[in-house]
Amino acid sequence: MTAGAVKLRELRAGDRPALESLIRATGVFSEEEVGVALELIDAGIANAACGYLFLVAADERDRAIGYACYGHTSMTDGVYDLYWIAVDPRVQRGGVGRALLRATEDDVRRRGGRMIIIETAGKAEYEKTREFYVRTECVEIARIRDFYRVGDDKVVYQRVLDRPTAP
Ligand SMILES: CC(C)(COP(=O)(O)OP(=O)(O)OC[C@H]1O[C@@H](n2cnc3c(N)ncnc32)[C@H](O)[C@@H]1OP(=O)(O)O)[C@@H](O)C(=O)NCCC(=O)NCCS
Repeated sequence: MTAGAVKLRELRAGDRPALESLIRATGVFSEEEVGVALELIDAGIANAACGYLFLVAADERDRAIGYACYGHTSMTDGVYDLYWIAVDPRVQRGGVGRALLRATEDDVRRRGGRMIIIETAGKAEYEKTREFYVRTECVEIARIRDFYRVGDDKVVYQRVLDRPTAP
């Protein structure tokens, strides 16, 4: 699968070291968050049907330079959560994040999804992340004040997907 110049593919066991190092290199995730991100990656490597879906962006040597992790939100009709998206800082601002998000949307549509929900933090370290979501046409629909800790809101973005038109 390719999106523009970015090669996108499925998650493979050999991606783990590159994914761990790029997750850490972003500098925005706490040790606890890194642990959760890796747990999901390990679950996806162990069993592709674990409920977490992955898309990996790879460079010309097939090394992982970014990824998205998403999944169906239980007890909903066609709602998906984007749990994680991260791009190697060395290639940020080059369209990899947008390609991952668009490919995630395409896959969610294919699975009958109609909406993607993204939760992120309101703290200053995530200002660039929030800018990314706004620039990629995600809409802020809710904010829970002091959710993560006092002074750090939960910010919820929504991306409504057009249903594919019937042939
Ligand atoms: C958020 C993230 C995934 C974006 O990936 P990316 O490959 O740099 O994004 P892109 O190059 O595709 O940028 C897409 C749009 O977002 C904008 N954008 C991306 N990073 C930005 C930044 N730091 N400041 C302002 N705008 C930014 C781009 O300008 C672009 O908009 P444009 O096309 O209108 O110019 C990446 O910065 C990242 O990994 N951040 C750390 C991890 C994180 O916060 N993940 C999300 C929480 S789980």
